[in-house]
Amino acid sequence: MRIGVLTAGGDAPGLNAAIRAIGQLAFRDGHELIGIANGWAGLAGEFAGHDLTPADIVGVVGLGGTLLGTVRYNLDNPAGGREHVLTAVEEHLDALVAIGGDGTQRIAHWLAERGAPVVGVPKTLDNDLVGTDYCIGFDSAVSLVAESLDRLHTTAASHHRVMVVETMGRSTGWVAAMGGLAGGADLIIIPEFPITMDEIIAHLVKRRSVGNAFSIVVIAEGINLESLGGVESDELSSEGVDGVRLATRGVGQFLAARIDEHGGFEVRTTVLGHLQRGGSPTAYDRIWATRVGAAAYDAAAAGKFGMIPVVRGSEVELAPLTTVATGQRQVPRELYDLCAVFF
Ligand code: F6P
Repeated sequence: MRIGVLTAGGDAPGLNAAIRAIGQLAFRDGHELIGIANGWAGLAGEFAGHDLTPADIVGVVGLGGTLLGTVRYNLDNPAGGREHVLTAVEEHLDALVAIGGDGTQRIAHWLAERGAPVVGVPKTLDNDLVGTDYCIGFDSAVSLVAESLDRLHTTAASHHRVMVVETMGRSTGWVAAMGGLAGGADLIIIPEFPITMDEIIAHLVKRRSVGNAFSIVVIAEGINLESLGGVESDELSSEGVDGVRLATRGVGQFLAARIDEHGGFEVRTTVLGHLQRGGSPTAYDRIWATRVGAAAYDAAAAGKFGMIPVVRGSEVELAPLTTVATGQRQVPRELYDLCAVFF
């Protein structure tokens, strides 16, 4: 079998561990592994697949990024991109493993509906794919946020400052909430449970009145600015593919300026940005990437196409791509309430 593998959308720590798992099992069973360069772009234009050898995947389990490269690519612009991908898969491959987030899995699903031999692997450090408890990259991002908050605590305490920390999280607040919980944030603001500026100031004033001279406020980049009394720009939709460049809205700076305007607080802002996506995967990410990668290989080798391995509890299960291809999995109320107990 000629098994293709691609990584699409934003990179995340753990992608190489998944590629390695797929490759090692493919080589064990005598199949060919075709690495597709730069995600869907490598199938939409000239075929950018090349044969990988066992040497290509040696020593990559702890390597961040993706050895295949990735680009954000809009398959509907120019029109016909999807058809090119479908033709390329039919001409060059017997199976394709597509590692990526919701956009990637929507395309994988579209291809599978047209009979293409596609299997997905769930990846997004936003951790918000529906139908899976875990996505590759999330634990590494959360660990970076937690370590950053540890560092910010000491300087915040020394200077009696409010530190506003902006995390990734396009539509949901998983990274902010779990990173904030792990790092002892004093307030976490996420899209699922917006709070007003008045409530934020009241919380900071109350903390100070009971002797807490500093505060760490974590805010997810995807928060609606209107909830903080700001105005959303109409130009957002033209930013990047699917309007993903939410960091350019500067919600951290915006919030810091509003706190500063109130007076009485010295405020500083840290935008964690792509530090959350770079560097080595945590052991947890390596293990789950290996498990879902291996399960994707098993599905492809067994001809179970149109499926994606998902994490449910401590198990990996095979689910139809339709399961993950729509919507976003949100932080549940009870988990946010648990975070709020420590505010
Ligand atoms: O979707 C994953 C993600 O990391 C988001 O959290 C973030 O908004 C986006 O990607 C950033 O994308 P880019 O690397 O293209 O700026």
